[in-house]
Amino acid sequence: MTKVSGRSQRKEILQKLMRKDGSLVMPYFVVEGKRRKNPVASMPGVFQLSVDILVKEVARARGLGIPAVILFGIPARKDLLGSGAYDNDGIVQKAVRELKKKVKGILVITDVCLCEYTSHGHCGIVKKFPEASQSKHAFTDFIDLKPTLDLLTRTALSHTEAGADMVAPSAMMHGQVKAIRSILDRNGFKHIPIMGYSAKFASVFYGPFRDAAESAPRFGDRSSYQLNPSGVDRALAEVASDIKEGADIVMVKPALAYLDVIRAVKAKFRVPLAAYNVSGEYAMVKAASRAGWVDEKKIVSEILTGIKRAGADIVITYHARDVARWKKKGG
Ligand code: PBG
Repeated sequence: MTKVSGRSQRKEILQKLMRKDGSLVMPYFVVEGKRRKNPVASMPGVFQLSVDILVKEVARARGLGIPAVILFGIPARKDLLGSGAYDNDGIVQKAVRELKKKVKGILVITDVCLCEYTSHGHCGIVKKFPEASQSKHAFTDFIDLKPTLDLLTRTALSHTEAGADMVAPSAMMHGQVKAIRSILDRNGFKHIPIMGYSAKFASVFYGPFRDAAESAPRFGDRSSYQLNPSGVDRALAEVASDIKEGADIVMVKPALAYLDVIRAVKAKFRVPLAAYNVSGEYAMVKAASRAGWVDEKKIVSEILTGIKRAGADIVITYHARDVARWKKKGG
């Protein structure tokens, strides 16, 4: 029998995803409870779903041809150490197990971060709580990196043990990709690809997501660990470092205000590239189309064409299910 290396298995998973017509990934927010379908006010058509409803929705999405989903969890309780993130019975872990059991052929990606699970809403372990008057902090004064990496790796491992097909670290913590690659390799998960949220800008476009995931920071902002929107060089450096650390696919996020970054990453690196068409971009389209100011179907198609034209191989978008439905209807 020939031994297939982890790397080639990971490559194959990504190539399969990239070949799928459209290669749009649909995000879902999962909550505890049963028969829950809580609307997210700032994202019409998007809901926080309990696992039972999630399974039904994803089965339907799969039936429409959606190849992959990415999951975000909202735990019942939040604490300083974000313990819901790496609990084997945590919300994402439960959702993954059910989806893998009940929905054939769906590729399940999990977002690996702490901000939805920490009481303060930051993506790492906070070292020193700043004065209320202070909003800016230097990364090293603010985040305790080593325990943060420990918890992020535990989170990635528990998602994978639950059955996740790919993990997507989004905390923007230095060394997170390398640390996660290493823990997965040591635990028999060499074949699981890592999608690095490599070029993740500190963006106002994440506003509606933070409503959906209940993850807005309680103090300060994420500018000490997310990128400043003004430059492309730091973004390219982050991408290079994620690839060196072992990312199988890298991401630019948000998409629309950063099409030049997508282009630059595509031109410079030979790895698959994802773009995240984020919550604020979705909210603007929904608001304008609800007001009757734009044609939703056409504007979504033009936006997704633009993101792909810039160089994205895969687009994570809340429009994925609508697009699949429109396509099915032959529209
Ligand atoms: C977690 C995370 C965020 C998004 C994806 N993963 C929020 C943030 O960084 O505040 C945003 C996605 C969106 O806006 O749709 N760190």
